[in-house]
Parts: sequence; C-alpha cells; structure tokens
Amino acid sequence: MTLIVALLVLAAAGGLHPPGAIDAAATTGLSEGDTACDLRVPDSCTLRDLASRLGRRVGATAEPSQVLPGPFADTLAREFSSLTPENALKWYTVQPNRGGWNFGPADAVVDFAVAHGMEVRGHTLVWTQDTFTPGWVKAISDPAELRTVLAEHINTVVGRYGDRVHRWDVVNEPLESIGTNPSDNVFGRVLGAGYLAEIFALAHAADPSAELWLNEFGTDWVPGKHEALVELVRQLVTDGVPIHGVGIQMHRFTTEGPDLDAFRRQLEDFAALGVKVAITELDVATVPGDPDAFSKQAGTYERVVTACLLVAACAEITTWGVTDAATWLDHLGTLPTPTRPLLFDDQYAPKPAYLAFRGALLAALAGAQWPTQPSPPPMTALPVAAAPAFTG
Ligand code: XIL
Repeated sequence: MTLIVALLVLAAAGGLHPPGAIDAAATTGLSEGDTACDLRVPDSCTLRDLASRLGRRVGATAEPSQVLPGPFADTLAREFSSLTPENALKWYTVQPNRGGWNFGPADAVVDFAVAHGMEVRGHTLVWTQDTFTPGWVKAISDPAELRTVLAEHINTVVGRYGDRVHRWDVVNEPLESIGTNPSDNVFGRVLGAGYLAEIFALAHAADPSAELWLNEFGTDWVPGKHEALVELVRQLVTDGVPIHGVGIQMHRFTTEGPDLDAFRRQLEDFAALGVKVAITELDVATVPGDPDAFSKQAGTYERVVTACLLVAACAEITTWGVTDAATWLDHLGTLPTPTRPLLFDDQYAPKPAYLAFRGALLAALAGAQWPTQPSPPPMTALPVAAAPAFTG
C-alpha cells in the first residue's frame, strides 16, 4: 500500500489529526516545479517539483568536488531546490588565517547552485563552538580586536555572496552540544552575553535584505534543549535582534522517533515567536545489520517531513548529504558504520526514505489529513561525541 493510499485510508477511518490539512497556501514565493511533473504519476515528480508546489524548499549539502559533473551533481540539481555548502562557507575554510581568504571552494558550490536555479543556504558565518573556530580567532582576548575581526569576516563573506546568498545561518550552535546551557566559546568569553546580538547586528548591517537564521543541534532529542532554545530565541526577539528564522539540525542518531505531534509542536513554538523555522541538517543513521533499518528510517523521514509540512512557518527541509556513499556520520568515529543515513544509496538509487519523503509531499498536495499515529517509542539517542573533528 502506498503511503498516500495508507493516509487516505486512515483519514477515512477517522484517525485524524485535529489541525489537519497542510497549509498549501503558505508559499514562500518559489516558482512552480518542472512542468513534466504529473501528480498522478509520482515517478515523474522530483522532490524539488513537489516541494516548490507547496512553497517549501528541499535542500541538500555539497562539497566542491561533489558539484563536478557526475551522478552526485546530477542528483543534486534534479531533486533539490536549495544547496548548503557542507564546509565551504565556514570560517575555517574561508579565512583559516587572518586575511588569508580562501573563496575557491565556496565559489564552486555557489556557482553550481546559481547555474541550476537552486537557492543557497549560507552556512555559517560564526560557529560558536571553539572546536570549529580557527586557532587565530580563539587566541584573541581583546574585545575591540575581536569585534574588528568579526566585522571583517562578516562584511567580507556577506559582501562577496550577498547577491547570490539571501539567507544565512548567522550563528551555528550557540548552546552546548549535549546540554541546555550557552556554549562556552571565545565570542561569549570575550564579548559577554550580548555577543549573539552583536553578531546578528553585523550580519544585518552587511546585508539589510538578507534572512538571518540561528541554527542549533540536538533540540529534537537532548532533554530540555528545545525549551532552552525557545527561551533564547524569545529573548533575542524581545530584544529586537534581527533574527528571522531558526534552523533545527536533526541529526538523528537513532532510527526511533520523533513523535510526529510532539515535533510539530516544537516547530510551532518558533512560529509563535514570529520567526520561520526549517529542518536544516536532516540525516537518520541506521544500525548496521538491522533488517528493518530502511523501513524504520523511512518512517522517521516521513514523520519529520510531515511535521514540517503541517507548520506554515516551516520553510525548508535540507538533508545533510545526498548519497549514503558520502556522509559525515561515517567519519565521526562514534557510530557503528556504515550509517546509511540519506535518501539515496551508494549507486544513487532512491531508498525507501526517498519514497517516504516524496510520499509525504504528495500527500500534502493531495490535501491529506494526518493521523495522530503512528507514534514510535521515545527516542534513545546513541551517545555521540559532542564535537567531531573537522576536516577543514
Ligand atoms: C560537519 C561536516 O559535515 C563535516 O564534514 C565537518 O568535518 C564538520 O562539520 N552540525 C553542523 C554542520 O552545523 O556544519 C556539521 O557539518 C555537522 C553538525
């Protein structure tokens, strides 16, 4: 039974979710998908076609080598309307040494996106975790000097890409990875608690028309972290900080959860603060050897996509990678490998997770109502290292 049929059967049986239908009118102004897409023939429609009809972005990441001609680049351009450079726009790539600008990698990824009509998610101006901050920045202890360096970095990066990159993850991971406290990072230590407001103000000054986002890890499974992030964003909004969206990473280190309703409510918590929300780094690690791994994984993707589609302010779902053959999770050193967390297998064939993702989009377009079930058991996250070593 296809997903869409299953949903319609459930709907007919009365197992409906009260708020119900997708708000298909909540468009973000995206153009219609490829006209070759015939909704009666699912295989004729890509994720990109379908998501654009719902006014949502569907994205993936890439490294410069992956946008060279080949199956990765073909899949990327065919299926996704948004591209997040996986590492190319990070501080450690762009300015590894003071004034030692390195734009080649980001240029390659951004040029590819523009050539294929994809939008770029500018990830990320400032990653507020010391592990991912270049040593020369971490060594600064004078507030005035750090402010100068921040302004130089943000003005230069936003200045270079501002005509092509219209939304930025201005700050990445301001909370500690596994916990609810603010992260202990050089910017907070040297500039004090107002450092987030300062960084957003710099980004706003660099491009007053850009959408400015805060991106965070683990709020979907670290106890209390969602509530801590809501409070942080509430404070920023109250203080008049120019913040327009909150990115939820969603690296699922388990095949269980999330509960559809609970996750939808988390997304709505941000909408209630007047900001957009997005799933920015979705991947779902499987357990090697589990015979049901891919169907469990498909269920997770379906629930995450569905929850987003049920919330009008949820603008985007981006997966952290394209093919199982290239995933950062296999290099963390903390998970059993291969993790096979993505939508396409090693040969770029669509997996059950892809069909579930597409099915959720099709169901939304068909105006399906959503069942309150199935809700899986509560998540039990695998222990992961808080800070994987970076390759930049
Ligand atoms: C990861 C990349 O995928 C790796 O290649 C790199 O070594 C470390 O960073 N949260 C984020 C992303 O916000 O930027 C991270 O990307 C994954 C976790």
